[in-house]
Formats: sequence, structure tokens, C-alpha cells
Amino acid sequence: MRQKVTRRTLLAAAALLCSAGRSTLAAAAQRGRPATVTPLKTLFACRFKIGMAVDPNDLRDEVTRDLVLRHANSVTAENVLKPHIIGAREGVYDFARGDALVAFCRRHAIAVRGHTLVWHQNAPDWFFRGDRSDPVAYRALVRRRLERYVTDVVTHYRGKVYVWDVVNEVASLKDGEVYRDSPWYRALGPDFIEYAFRAARAADPDVLLFINDFGTEEPAKRQRLLTIVKSLLAKGVPLDGVGHQLHMTTPTDPDGVDTALTAVEALGLKNQITELDVSFYKDPQSCYTDAAQCLPSLRRGSQEVGDQLGAQALLYGRLYRIFSRHPSVQAVTTWGAGDNGSWLSTFPTRRLDLPLIFDETGLPKPAYEAIRAASSTA
Ligand code: G3I
Repeated sequence: MRQKVTRRTLLAAAALLCSAGRSTLAAAAQRGRPATVTPLKTLFACRFKIGMAVDPNDLRDEVTRDLVLRHANSVTAENVLKPHIIGAREGVYDFARGDALVAFCRRHAIAVRGHTLVWHQNAPDWFFRGDRSDPVAYRALVRRRLERYVTDVVTHYRGKVYVWDVVNEVASLKDGEVYRDSPWYRALGPDFIEYAFRAARAADPDVLLFINDFGTEEPAKRQRLLTIVKSLLAKGVPLDGVGHQLHMTTPTDPDGVDTALTAVEALGLKNQITELDVSFYKDPQSCYTDAAQCLPSLRRGSQEVGDQLGAQALLYGRLYRIFSRHPSVQAVTTWGAGDNGSWLSTFPTRRLDLPLIFDETGLPKPAYEAIRAASSTA
């Protein structure tokens, strides 16, 4: 008797093929290079893309390049697609470094995440120059510049970048305030977000458009971001998903991450984890304005570092279990490849921080083992 082909049977068949392919790939990877570990992209091949954030300069470093080539099938431009690099002057674009990263990724069949079109940090001054005494004309001028920039950049990378963080970190950090105060907000009010999304969609009908932010694991920040997301959806703004940066520290209860992913799913949107790392230090807020207030550096090889690596592994494992439970999670990107290339070794102060899954020489850390174990539930 012929079995009726339903969407469910098709999905089941696809899942079977996927897991069979995954174990074959994993076995091949182990056979080919016995001294190396199974690539993360193989462990999660059936679930989500594995991303790493790097710049073209980082890829000159052998450890970083090997980690990317071995483990990632998505790369985020850590800096080279930001406006202060591409658009330092009005109407003059410098795509050289962005193009170099895209070319590397195309050569190696790696997808590219575009980060980011609009951000309060590093936004060149020329966007905001003009006579503010005529508010209507001034607004129109800044809006035109924003739309021109977004259109030109998205058009340049059309078909090469699969997802853009259209706006980055627009939710406020303060209680009772939804939108973050920024040059963009001061010039255009909250509408700058809508203008950017609509211009991006007009320039590329196929690219995924994301709003990206940190702290979505915390209830107050999450509520502010969701308020923005809901208002965009109510206006029919073309928004495909939410990027959760997840710059974490130990110890952190990851349940807030689960809640955040569920809340986004409930709105019918996709999720991506966009900047994951797990720092050794839970600094006081004052450390971000006065480095003397930051926690002192741990000593390499000390008991504390060993404890941190264990706690970090535990958190990474729990996080990847959570990501695996949410079909809406399409990609999980770490902010860097190995500990040799993390922004946290110099920010908020210069000190020993080893926040990633691979160490400074590219070897897997305890975090890798915890993630590998979590992948069996994927
Ligand atoms: O490349 C120059 C180098 O030539 C120069 O000698 C040196 C002196 O300061 O600066 C180098 O540029 C630095 C660049 O990182 C590359 O390392 C910039 O000063 C520094 O401001 C820049 O910081 C970046 C930061 O965003 C600001 O754009 C970090 O690398 C990058 O990791 C960080 O990424 C952000 C995400 O975009 C948004 N979420 C938070 C995340 C971490 O802050």
C-alpha cells in the first residue's frame, strides 16, 4: 500500500537523513584527523549554523583561521562591516576589508552575517551634521543619509550576506525608558529603526533582517527590546528575527535565555545567538567608566582559573542544550574563534580572560566537551 506523503513524513525523512549524514561526517572527521575533535558545525549540522566573529586581519593568524575553517559555517564581521569603516565619509564607501572577508567566506562556502548597519557606537558624525534650527528639514536630511547608506551597503552585499543586524543595541539600559538615547534617536526619534529596516528590505528582498541586542536574558532589558519589536511588527516593518548577543559571565543561571528565545518565538520570529562568550569576571557597573573598579586579573594557571574553566564549561553546556531545544534558533555565533582573539582581553580592562570554547592555541577547552555532550540532545 502506498504511504501518504505528508509534511510530517517528509520532515521525519529529512531528520533521518540529516542524522545519518551527521554521524558519517563525524566519523570521517575523526578518521581523517585523529588528533582533532569533531567540528562544531558537524555536531550541530542538523540544528543551527555555527558562527565565529572575526575580521580579515585575524585570519592571518593560523590558529584563528584553522578554527574558523574547521568549526564554522557562518562568519560575522567583528568590525569591518560597521559604518565607521565602510562609510567614514558621506557618499564614499570603503568596502575593501568587508569584501576581503566575504571573498574568504565564499572561497570556503561559509555564510556571512552582516554586523551592523546602524549602531550608536562608531556612527560617523557626517550622518548628523546640519542645521537643527529647522527640525523638519534636518530630520529629512538625516533620514535621507541613513536610507542612502543602508541602501548602498545592502545592495553592495546583496546575495553575499545572508543576514544583517540592521540595528544594534537600540533598547535602553534604564528603567522607565524604552529606546536608548543615541545620536540616531536624538535626530529621528524611534523612527530611525523603521527607516533602516524598510531601506534594507527594499535593497535586498531575500536577506534576513535582525534586531540585535545584549542582555535579553534579563527580564527588564528583554521587556524593553520586546516592546520595540512588537511596535515594529504592529507597523508592518520587515523584521525577521532577534539577535541575542549573550556576553555572559559565570555563574549565571541560563533560564533567562530560554525565556527570551520562547518570547521571540511567540511573536513568530527567528532567533540567532550572535556574540556568545563567557567571561571570568562579573564586574561592577562602575568598571565600565573607571577601569580601576574592574575586578583584578586572575593569575594564569591558578586554582581560580581552573574553577572558572569548569564553571564556564557547565554554562556553555547548559546554553547549547537550551539552543538545541528551540527550532527557531538558526545560528549560534561566538564573539571570536579562540581565546587568542577575544575583545575581552583588553575590554573593559587589559587582563587574563579566556571566554571562548577553544584556547589560545586552538585546542578544545572543557567547554568544548560540555557542548559536544549537549549536541547529543540536538
Ligand atoms: O585596528 C585598530 C588598530 O589599528 C589600532 O592600533 C588600535 C588602537 O586602539 O585599534 C584597533 O581598532 C580597534 C578594533 O576594535 C579592532 O581591534 C578599535 O580601537 C576598537 O574600538 C574596536 O573595538 C570593537 C568594538 O566592537 C567597537 O567597534 C571590538 O573589536 C568589537 O569586538 C566590538 O564588538 C561589539 C559588537 O560590535 C556589538 N556588541 C558588543 C561587542 C563587544 O563590544
